[in-house]
Amino acid sequence: MKTTYYCQNCGAQYSKWMGQCSACKQWNTIVEEVVSKKEAKSGIKSGKSRLVKLSDIDTTAEYRIPTQNEELDRVLGGGVVPGSVILLGGEPGIGKSTLMLQVALQLPLNTLYISGEESPKQIRMRAERIGIDAGQMKLLFETNVQKILHTLYEEQPQIIVIDSIQTLHTDLIESSAGSISQIRESASDIIKYAKQTNTPVFIIGHINKEGQIAGPKVLEHMVDTVLQFEGDRNHLFRILRAQKNRFGATHEIGIFEMFGKGLREIKNPSKLLLSSHNSALSGTVIAVAMEGIRPLLIEVQALVSPAVYGTPQRTTTGYDIKRLHMILAVLEKRMGIKLSGKDVFLNITGGIRIDDPAIDLAVAAAILSSNNDIPVSAQWAFIGELGLTGEVRPVTRVAQRLSEAEKLGFERVFLSKHNKINPKNYKIALNGIGEIQDLGPILS
Ligand code: TYD
Ligand code: MG
Repeated sequence: MKTTYYCQNCGAQYSKWMGQCSACKQWNTIVEEVVSKKEAKSGIKSGKSRLVKLSDIDTTAEYRIPTQNEELDRVLGGGVVPGSVILLGGEPGIGKSTLMLQVALQLPLNTLYISGEESPKQIRMRAERIGIDAGQMKLLFETNVQKILHTLYEEQPQIIVIDSIQTLHTDLIESSAGSISQIRESASDIIKYAKQTNTPVFIIGHINKEGQIAGPKVLEHMVDTVLQFEGDRNHLFRILRAQKNRFGATHEIGIFEMFGKGLREIKNPSKLLLSSHNSALSGTVIAVAMEGIRPLLIEVQALVSPAVYGTPQRTTTGYDIKRLHMILAVLEKRMGIKLSGKDVFLNITGGIRIDDPAIDLAVAAAILSSNNDIPVSAQWAFIGELGLTGEVRPVTRVAQRLSEAEKLGFERVFLSKHNKINPKNYKIALNGIGEIQDLGPILS
Protein backbone atom coordinates (compact mmCIF):
# COMPACT_ATOMS: atom_id res chain seq x y z
CA MET A 1 0.00 0.00 0.00
CA LYS A 2 1.43 3.32 -1.05
CA THR A 3 0.66 6.49 0.82
CA THR A 4 1.47 10.07 0.05
CA TYR A 5 0.93 13.25 2.00
CA TYR A 6 -1.02 16.05 0.39
CA CYS A 7 -1.67 19.57 1.55
CA GLN A 8 -5.46 19.87 1.56
CA ASN A 9 -5.21 23.54 0.82
CA CYS A 10 -2.93 23.81 -2.17
CA GLY A 11 -2.42 20.24 -3.28
CA ALA A 12 1.35 20.12 -2.71
CA GLN A 13 2.67 16.60 -2.34
CA TYR A 14 5.08 15.37 0.35
CA SER A 15 6.67 12.07 1.20
CA LYS A 16 6.37 12.61 4.94
CA TRP A 17 4.11 14.47 7.31
CA MET A 18 4.90 18.05 8.26
CA GLY A 19 3.16 20.58 10.45
CA GLN A 20 3.26 23.37 7.91
CA CYS A 21 2.95 23.19 4.15
CA SER A 22 6.05 24.76 2.70
CA ALA A 23 4.22 25.68 -0.49
CA CYS A 24 1.25 27.63 0.87
CA LYS A 25 2.43 28.13 4.46
CA GLN A 26 -0.80 26.80 5.97
CA TRP A 27 -0.62 24.85 9.23
CA ASN A 28 -2.10 21.40 9.80
CA THR A 29 -3.31 20.96 6.27
CA ILE A 30 -1.13 17.98 5.36
CA VAL A 31 -2.98 14.71 5.39
CA GLU A 32 -1.89 11.19 4.56
CA GLU A 33 -3.74 9.68 1.62
CA VAL A 34 -3.63 6.13 0.39
CA VAL A 35 -2.67 5.99 -3.25
CA SER A 36 -2.91 2.42 -4.43
CA LYS A 37 -2.83 3.11 -8.14
CA LYS A 38 -0.02 1.32 -9.83
CA GLU A 39 2.89 3.52 -10.70
CA ALA A 40 3.77 3.82 -14.34
CA LYS A 41 6.99 2.03 -15.20
CA SER A 42 9.52 4.23 -16.85
CA GLY A 43 11.00 3.34 -20.21
CA ILE A 44 9.79 3.16 -23.77
CA LYS A 45 6.36 1.84 -24.60
CA SER A 46 5.79 0.05 -27.88
CA GLY A 47 2.89 0.90 -30.17
CA LYS A 48 2.66 3.85 -32.44
CA SER A 49 1.11 7.17 -31.38
CA ARG A 50 -0.77 9.09 -34.02
CA LEU A 51 0.93 12.08 -35.57
CA VAL A 52 -1.06 14.89 -37.15
CA LYS A 53 0.12 17.72 -39.32
CA LEU A 54 -0.80 20.98 -37.67
CA SER A 55 -2.02 22.43 -40.95
CA ASP A 56 -4.36 19.46 -41.46
CA ILE A 57 -6.36 20.18 -38.35
CA ASP A 58 -9.78 21.56 -39.06
CA THR A 59 -10.48 24.78 -37.20
CA THR A 60 -13.50 26.01 -39.11
CA ALA A 61 -15.81 27.71 -36.67
CA GLU A 62 -15.80 25.65 -33.51
CA TYR A 63 -19.37 24.48 -33.08
CA ARG A 64 -20.90 25.69 -29.85
CA ILE A 65 -24.01 24.68 -28.01
CA PRO A 66 -25.91 27.74 -26.78
CA THR A 67 -26.94 27.29 -23.15
CA GLN A 68 -30.05 29.48 -23.56
CA ASN A 69 -28.60 31.65 -20.83
CA GLU A 70 -27.16 34.76 -22.44
CA GLU A 71 -24.96 35.77 -19.55
CA LEU A 72 -23.41 32.33 -19.25
CA ASP A 73 -22.96 32.10 -23.01
CA ARG A 74 -21.20 35.43 -23.05
CA VAL A 75 -18.75 34.37 -20.36
CA LEU A 76 -18.08 31.09 -22.13
CA GLY A 77 -17.39 32.94 -25.36
CA GLY A 78 -20.62 32.12 -27.16
CA GLY A 79 -21.79 28.78 -25.82
CA VAL A 80 -20.38 25.46 -24.73
CA VAL A 81 -17.78 23.76 -26.87
CA PRO A 82 -18.52 20.02 -27.22
CA GLY A 83 -16.13 17.95 -25.18
CA SER A 84 -15.09 20.85 -23.01
CA VAL A 85 -14.94 20.61 -19.24
CA ILE A 86 -16.02 23.66 -17.31
CA LEU A 87 -15.31 24.07 -13.64
CA LEU A 88 -17.75 26.35 -11.83
CA GLY A 89 -16.36 27.52 -8.51
CA GLY A 90 -17.91 29.63 -5.81
CA GLU A 91 -18.55 29.89 -2.12
CA PRO A 92 -21.28 27.74 -0.60
CA GLY A 93 -24.70 29.32 -0.97
CA ILE A 94 -23.77 31.66 -3.79
CA GLY A 95 -26.04 29.89 -6.29
CA LYS A 96 -23.91 27.42 -8.25
CA SER A 97 -26.44 24.62 -8.05
CA THR A 98 -29.25 27.01 -8.90
CA LEU A 99 -27.45 28.30 -12.00
CA MET A 100 -26.56 24.85 -13.26
CA LEU A 101 -30.01 23.44 -12.58
CA GLN A 102 -31.56 26.34 -14.44
CA VAL A 103 -29.31 25.71 -17.42
CA ALA A 104 -29.93 21.97 -17.34
CA LEU A 105 -33.69 22.49 -17.19
CA GLN A 106 -33.75 25.01 -20.00
CA LEU A 107 -31.66 23.10 -22.51
CA PRO A 108 -33.69 21.24 -25.10
CA LEU A 109 -31.14 18.45 -24.92
CA ASN A 110 -30.71 15.21 -23.09
CA THR A 111 -29.07 16.66 -19.98
CA LEU A 112 -27.96 14.72 -16.94
CA TYR A 113 -27.64 16.32 -13.55
CA ILE A 114 -25.47 14.25 -11.25
CA SER A 115 -25.88 15.19 -7.63
CA GLY A 116 -23.98 13.94 -4.67
CA GLU A 117 -25.05 16.77 -2.46
CA GLU A 118 -28.75 17.11 -2.53
CA SER A 119 -31.39 14.42 -2.62
CA PRO A 120 -33.55 14.04 -5.73
CA LYS A 121 -36.44 15.45 -3.72
CA GLN A 122 -34.52 18.59 -2.85
CA ILE A 123 -33.60 19.09 -6.48
CA ARG A 124 -37.16 18.55 -7.60
CA MET A 125 -38.27 21.17 -5.08
CA ARG A 126 -35.67 23.59 -6.33
CA ALA A 127 -36.74 23.00 -9.93
CA GLU A 128 -40.33 23.73 -8.94
CA ARG A 129 -39.20 26.91 -7.26
CA ILE A 130 -37.35 27.99 -10.38
CA GLY A 131 -40.50 27.21 -12.29
CA ILE A 132 -39.11 25.79 -15.52
CA ASP A 133 -40.65 22.67 -16.94
CA ALA A 134 -38.21 19.84 -16.52
CA GLY A 135 -37.86 19.14 -20.22
CA GLN A 136 -35.56 16.22 -20.86
CA MET A 137 -33.38 16.60 -17.82
CA LYS A 138 -32.54 13.46 -15.93
CA LEU A 139 -31.19 13.13 -12.46
CA LEU A 140 -28.58 10.79 -11.08
CA PHE A 141 -27.99 10.56 -7.38
CA GLU A 142 -24.58 8.95 -7.20
CA THR A 143 -21.08 9.69 -5.96
CA ASN A 144 -19.12 6.68 -7.16
CA VAL A 145 -17.17 7.59 -10.27
CA GLN A 146 -17.14 4.05 -11.71
CA LYS A 147 -20.91 3.79 -11.37
CA ILE A 148 -21.34 7.25 -12.84
CA LEU A 149 -19.18 6.37 -15.83
CA HIS A 150 -21.16 3.18 -16.36
CA THR A 151 -24.38 5.20 -16.46
CA LEU A 152 -22.83 7.77 -18.75
CA TYR A 153 -21.75 5.20 -21.32
CA GLU A 154 -25.21 3.66 -21.19
CA GLU A 155 -27.30 6.84 -21.26
CA GLN A 156 -25.04 8.97 -23.44
CA PRO A 157 -26.34 12.34 -22.23
CA GLN A 158 -25.60 15.39 -24.36
CA ILE A 159 -24.66 17.64 -21.48
CA ILE A 160 -23.56 16.68 -17.98
CA VAL A 161 -23.58 18.62 -14.73
CA ILE A 162 -21.72 17.29 -11.70
CA ASP A 163 -22.65 18.76 -8.33
CA SER A 164 -20.07 18.69 -6.85
CA ILE A 165 -16.58 17.36 -7.52
CA GLN A 166 -15.88 17.27 -3.78
CA THR A 167 -18.51 14.57 -3.25
CA LEU A 168 -17.17 12.16 -5.87
CA HIS A 169 -15.00 9.20 -5.02
CA THR A 170 -13.31 6.60 -7.12
CA ASP A 171 -12.69 2.98 -6.16
CA LEU A 172 -9.13 3.17 -7.40
CA ILE A 173 -8.04 5.24 -4.45
CA GLU A 174 -8.74 4.60 -0.82
CA SER A 175 -8.59 8.06 0.65
CA SER A 176 -11.84 9.73 1.63
CA ALA A 177 -14.09 11.76 -0.68
CA GLY A 178 -13.07 15.38 -0.94
CA SER A 179 -9.37 14.66 -0.45
CA ILE A 180 -6.89 15.90 -3.00
CA SER A 181 -6.12 12.57 -4.61
CA GLN A 182 -9.82 11.65 -4.83
CA ILE A 183 -10.69 14.94 -6.47
CA ARG A 184 -7.86 14.65 -8.93
CA GLU A 185 -8.55 11.04 -9.93
CA SER A 186 -12.31 11.53 -10.14
CA ALA A 187 -11.92 14.65 -12.24
CA SER A 188 -9.43 13.00 -14.55
CA ASP A 189 -11.83 10.09 -15.20
CA ILE A 190 -14.66 12.49 -15.95
CA ILE A 191 -12.46 14.61 -18.20
CA LYS A 192 -11.35 11.52 -20.08
CA TYR A 193 -14.99 10.63 -20.67
CA ALA A 194 -15.78 14.15 -21.85
CA LYS A 195 -12.95 14.11 -24.38
CA GLN A 196 -13.64 10.59 -25.65
CA THR A 197 -17.34 11.15 -26.22
CA ASN A 198 -17.20 14.87 -27.04
CA THR A 199 -19.71 15.62 -24.31
CA PRO A 200 -19.50 18.92 -22.45
CA VAL A 201 -19.34 18.63 -18.67
CA PHE A 202 -19.96 21.28 -16.04
CA ILE A 203 -18.25 20.48 -12.76
CA ILE A 204 -19.25 22.40 -9.65
CA GLY A 205 -16.48 22.94 -7.13
CA HIS A 206 -16.57 24.58 -3.73
CA ILE A 207 -14.19 27.29 -2.82
CA ASN A 208 -12.30 27.65 0.41
CA LYS A 209 -11.90 30.89 2.27
CA GLU A 210 -8.80 31.84 0.33
CA GLY A 211 -10.87 31.91 -2.81
CA GLN A 212 -9.34 28.81 -4.35
CA ILE A 213 -11.28 25.85 -5.61
CA ALA A 214 -11.17 23.96 -2.34
CA GLY A 215 -7.89 22.23 -2.02
CA PRO A 216 -6.61 21.42 -5.41
CA LYS A 217 -5.26 24.04 -7.69
CA VAL A 218 -4.54 20.94 -9.78
CA LEU A 219 -8.11 20.89 -10.94
CA GLU A 220 -7.77 24.29 -12.55
CA HIS A 221 -4.99 22.99 -14.77
CA MET A 222 -6.95 19.95 -15.88
CA VAL A 223 -10.14 21.58 -17.08
CA ASP A 224 -10.67 23.78 -20.14
CA THR A 225 -12.53 26.60 -18.49
CA VAL A 226 -12.65 27.86 -14.93
CA LEU A 227 -15.62 30.01 -14.05
CA GLN A 228 -15.96 31.80 -10.78
CA PHE A 229 -19.33 32.70 -9.35
CA GLU A 230 -18.98 35.48 -6.87
CA GLY A 231 -20.84 38.14 -5.02
CA ASP A 232 -21.92 38.96 -1.57
CA ARG A 233 -24.41 36.57 -0.08
CA ASN A 234 -26.15 39.48 1.59
CA HIS A 235 -26.67 41.19 -1.72
CA LEU A 236 -28.64 40.05 -4.68
CA PHE A 237 -26.05 40.48 -7.37
CA ARG A 238 -23.84 37.70 -8.59
CA ILE A 239 -21.01 38.01 -11.04
CA LEU A 240 -19.80 35.17 -13.20
CA ARG A 241 -16.24 35.51 -14.40
CA ALA A 242 -13.96 33.34 -16.47
CA GLN A 243 -10.58 32.87 -14.81
CA LYS A 244 -9.36 30.66 -17.55
CA ASN A 245 -10.91 29.86 -20.89
CA ARG A 246 -9.32 27.72 -23.57
CA PHE A 247 -12.14 28.58 -25.95
CA GLY A 248 -12.62 32.27 -25.45
CA ALA A 249 -11.55 35.47 -23.79
CA THR A 250 -11.53 35.90 -20.03
CA HIS A 251 -12.61 39.50 -19.86
CA GLU A 252 -16.33 38.92 -20.23
CA ILE A 253 -18.54 38.80 -17.18
CA GLY A 254 -22.09 37.74 -16.60
CA ILE A 255 -24.31 39.48 -14.09
CA PHE A 256 -27.20 37.81 -12.33
CA GLU A 257 -29.65 38.65 -9.64
CA MET A 258 -30.89 36.06 -7.16
CA PHE A 259 -34.57 36.34 -6.58
CA GLY A 260 -37.40 34.15 -5.34
CA LYS A 261 -37.45 32.02 -8.47
CA GLY A 262 -33.81 31.39 -9.18
CA LEU A 263 -31.29 33.56 -10.94
CA ARG A 264 -32.31 36.33 -13.27
CA GLU A 265 -30.00 37.52 -16.03
CA ILE A 266 -29.18 41.19 -15.90
CA LYS A 267 -28.55 42.49 -19.35
CA ASN A 268 -28.23 46.16 -18.60
CA PRO A 269 -26.44 46.38 -15.29
CA SER A 270 -24.91 49.82 -15.45
CA LYS A 271 -27.55 51.63 -13.46
CA LEU A 272 -28.37 48.85 -11.08
CA LEU A 273 -25.67 49.55 -8.56
CA LEU A 274 -26.61 53.18 -8.04
CA SER A 275 -28.92 54.03 -5.21
CA SER A 276 -31.95 55.89 -6.37
CA HIS A 277 -31.58 59.18 -4.49
CA ASN A 278 -30.96 62.22 -6.60
CA SER A 279 -29.83 64.66 -3.96
CA ALA A 280 -26.16 65.27 -3.43
CA LEU A 281 -24.68 63.74 -0.30
CA SER A 282 -21.23 64.30 1.10
CA GLY A 283 -18.98 61.29 0.76
CA THR A 284 -20.94 59.74 -2.11
CA VAL A 285 -19.40 59.84 -5.58
CA ILE A 286 -20.21 58.02 -8.80
CA ALA A 287 -17.50 56.33 -10.83
CA VAL A 288 -17.60 54.71 -14.24
CA ALA A 289 -15.83 51.37 -13.85
CA MET A 290 -15.32 48.62 -16.37
CA GLU A 291 -16.15 45.06 -15.48
CA GLY A 292 -14.56 43.07 -18.22
CA ILE A 293 -15.67 44.96 -21.29
CA ARG A 294 -18.88 46.33 -19.86
CA PRO A 295 -19.12 49.80 -18.38
CA LEU A 296 -20.71 49.90 -14.96
CA LEU A 297 -21.67 52.97 -12.99
CA ILE A 298 -20.97 52.42 -9.34
CA GLU A 299 -21.35 54.41 -6.20
CA VAL A 300 -18.31 54.96 -3.98
CA GLN A 301 -19.04 55.97 -0.42
CA ALA A 302 -16.48 57.29 2.00
CA LEU A 303 -16.82 58.22 5.63
CA VAL A 304 -14.01 60.21 7.20
CA SER A 305 -14.36 60.91 10.89
CA PRO A 306 -12.02 61.71 13.79
CA ALA A 307 -10.49 58.51 15.18
CA VAL A 308 -12.14 57.54 18.45
CA TYR A 309 -9.51 55.00 19.41
CA GLY A 310 -5.78 55.47 19.36
CA THR A 311 -5.08 54.03 15.95
CA PRO A 312 -7.26 55.24 13.12
CA GLN A 313 -9.18 52.56 11.30
CA ARG A 314 -9.19 51.98 7.58
CA THR A 315 -11.86 49.65 6.30
CA THR A 316 -13.01 48.90 2.79
CA THR A 317 -15.79 46.85 1.25
CA GLY A 318 -15.37 45.92 -2.37
CA TYR A 319 -12.12 47.83 -2.80
CA ASP A 320 -8.45 47.02 -2.25
CA ILE A 321 -7.35 48.34 1.13
CA LYS A 322 -3.76 48.81 -0.02
CA ARG A 323 -4.98 51.07 -2.76
CA LEU A 324 -6.96 53.07 -0.22
CA HIS A 325 -3.80 53.55 1.85
CA MET A 326 -2.02 54.75 -1.27
CA ILE A 327 -4.74 57.25 -2.11
CA LEU A 328 -4.80 58.54 1.47
CA ALA A 329 -1.04 59.03 1.35
CA VAL A 330 -1.29 60.90 -1.96
CA LEU A 331 -4.03 63.15 -0.57
CA GLU A 332 -1.95 63.91 2.55
CA LYS A 333 1.21 64.60 0.67
CA ARG A 334 -0.10 66.45 -2.37
CA MET A 335 -3.03 68.33 -0.90
CA GLY A 336 -1.80 68.70 2.66
CA ILE A 337 -4.93 67.19 4.15
CA LYS A 338 -4.49 65.64 7.59
CA LEU A 339 -6.02 62.19 7.42
CA SER A 340 -3.67 60.29 9.68
CA GLY A 341 -5.76 61.03 12.76
CA LYS A 342 -9.01 60.02 11.15
CA ASP A 343 -10.94 56.86 10.54
CA VAL A 344 -11.64 56.20 6.88
CA PHE A 345 -14.32 53.79 5.74
CA LEU A 346 -14.81 53.09 2.08
CA ASN A 347 -17.63 51.19 0.53
CA ILE A 348 -18.52 50.19 -3.00
CA THR A 349 -22.29 49.84 -2.91
CA GLY A 350 -24.11 46.86 -4.33
CA GLY A 351 -21.80 44.26 -2.81
CA ILE A 352 -19.51 43.84 -5.76
CA ARG A 353 -15.75 44.09 -5.86
CA ILE A 354 -14.05 46.50 -8.22
CA ASP A 355 -10.40 46.18 -9.20
CA ASP A 356 -10.48 48.75 -11.98
CA PRO A 357 -7.92 51.48 -11.11
CA ALA A 358 -10.06 53.98 -13.00
CA ILE A 359 -12.19 54.45 -9.90
CA ASP A 360 -9.25 55.97 -7.95
CA LEU A 361 -10.39 59.47 -8.78
CA ALA A 362 -13.88 58.77 -7.46
CA VAL A 363 -12.38 57.27 -4.29
CA ALA A 364 -10.24 60.37 -3.76
CA ALA A 365 -13.21 62.63 -4.44
CA ALA A 366 -15.41 60.69 -2.00
CA ILE A 367 -12.78 61.00 0.73
CA LEU A 368 -12.37 64.73 0.12
CA SER A 369 -16.11 65.21 -0.01
CA SER A 370 -16.65 63.44 3.30
CA ASN A 371 -13.67 65.09 4.97
CA ASN A 372 -14.74 68.59 3.97
CA ASP A 373 -18.44 67.79 4.25
CA ILE A 374 -19.07 69.11 0.77
CA PRO A 375 -21.64 67.19 -1.24
CA VAL A 376 -20.91 66.06 -4.78
CA SER A 377 -23.70 66.26 -7.30
CA ALA A 378 -25.34 62.94 -8.09
CA GLN A 379 -25.26 63.98 -11.74
CA TRP A 380 -21.48 63.94 -11.86
CA ALA A 381 -19.26 60.96 -12.60
CA PHE A 382 -15.53 60.49 -12.11
CA ILE A 383 -13.06 58.51 -14.20
CA GLY A 384 -9.32 58.40 -13.60
CA GLU A 385 -6.40 56.52 -12.14
CA LEU A 386 -4.27 58.21 -9.51
CA GLY A 387 -0.47 58.15 -9.66
CA LEU A 388 1.84 58.51 -6.69
CA THR A 389 2.74 62.05 -7.63
CA GLY A 390 -0.92 63.02 -7.60
CA GLU A 391 -1.30 63.04 -11.36
CA VAL A 392 -4.61 61.85 -12.76
CA ARG A 393 -3.80 59.31 -15.38
CA PRO A 394 -5.75 58.35 -18.47
CA VAL A 395 -7.67 55.09 -18.44
CA THR A 396 -8.60 52.47 -20.99
CA ARG A 397 -11.86 52.45 -22.95
CA VAL A 398 -12.66 56.01 -22.05
CA ALA A 399 -14.99 56.52 -24.99
CA GLN A 400 -17.15 53.63 -23.90
CA ARG A 401 -17.28 54.94 -20.33
CA LEU A 402 -18.25 58.40 -21.46
CA SER A 403 -21.03 57.15 -23.74
CA GLU A 404 -22.43 55.09 -20.89
CA ALA A 405 -22.47 58.08 -18.52
CA GLU A 406 -24.08 60.15 -21.24
CA LYS A 407 -26.65 57.48 -21.97
CA LEU A 408 -27.67 57.37 -18.33
CA GLY A 409 -28.22 61.09 -18.25
CA PHE A 410 -25.24 62.31 -16.25
CA GLU A 411 -24.43 66.00 -16.63
CA ARG A 412 -20.72 66.15 -16.10
CA VAL A 413 -17.73 63.83 -16.11
CA PHE A 414 -14.38 64.51 -14.47
CA LEU A 415 -11.55 62.68 -16.16
CA SER A 416 -7.85 62.91 -16.87
CA LYS A 417 -7.01 65.68 -19.28
CA HIS A 418 -4.49 63.32 -20.86
CA ASN A 419 -7.20 61.03 -22.18
CA LYS A 420 -7.31 61.37 -25.93
CA ILE A 421 -10.92 62.10 -26.78
CA ASN A 422 -12.75 64.39 -29.12
CA PRO A 423 -15.03 66.57 -26.94
CA LYS A 424 -17.20 67.31 -29.95
CA ASN A 425 -18.42 63.72 -29.86
CA TYR A 426 -20.08 64.17 -26.50
CA LYS A 427 -22.97 66.24 -25.31
CA ILE A 428 -22.04 65.60 -21.69
CA ALA A 429 -19.86 68.29 -20.02
CA LEU A 430 -16.26 67.19 -19.65
CA ASN A 431 -13.83 68.45 -17.04
CA GLY A 432 -10.28 67.42 -17.81
CA ILE A 433 -8.05 67.45 -14.75
CA GLY A 434 -4.30 66.99 -14.63
CA GLU A 435 -3.66 66.32 -10.98
CA ILE A 436 -5.53 65.62 -7.79
CA GLN A 437 -5.05 69.19 -6.56
CA ASP A 438 -7.44 70.29 -9.32
CA LEU A 439 -10.26 68.68 -7.33
CA GLY A 440 -9.54 71.15 -4.51
CA PRO A 441 -11.64 74.07 -5.80
CA ILE A 442 -14.62 71.77 -6.38
CA LEU A 443 -14.52 69.98 -3.06
CA SER A 444 -13.41 72.52 -0.51
P1 TYD B 1 -27.43 27.20 -4.17
O1 TYD B 1 -27.61 27.12 -5.63
O2 TYD B 1 -27.82 26.03 -3.36
O3 TYD B 1 -25.92 27.59 -3.82
P2 TYD B 1 -24.58 26.69 -4.00
O4 TYD B 1 -24.89 25.52 -4.85
O5 TYD B 1 -23.59 27.64 -4.62
O6 TYD B 1 -24.14 26.31 -2.64
O7 TYD B 1 -28.27 28.48 -3.72
C1 TYD B 1 -28.04 29.12 -2.55
C2 TYD B 1 -29.02 30.17 -2.12
O8 TYD B 1 -29.84 30.72 -3.10
C3 TYD B 1 -29.91 29.61 -1.08
O9 TYD B 1 -29.49 30.12 0.16
C4 TYD B 1 -31.28 30.06 -1.39
C5 TYD B 1 -31.11 31.00 -2.53
N1 TYD B 1 -32.15 30.86 -3.54
C6 TYD B 1 -33.00 31.92 -3.82
O10 TYD B 1 -32.90 33.00 -3.22
N2 TYD B 1 -33.93 31.78 -4.81
C7 TYD B 1 -34.09 30.63 -5.50
O11 TYD B 1 -34.97 30.54 -6.38
C8 TYD B 1 -33.22 29.53 -5.20
C9 TYD B 1 -33.37 28.22 -5.93
C10 TYD B 1 -32.27 29.69 -4.22
MG1 MG C 1 -24.90 23.50 -4.30
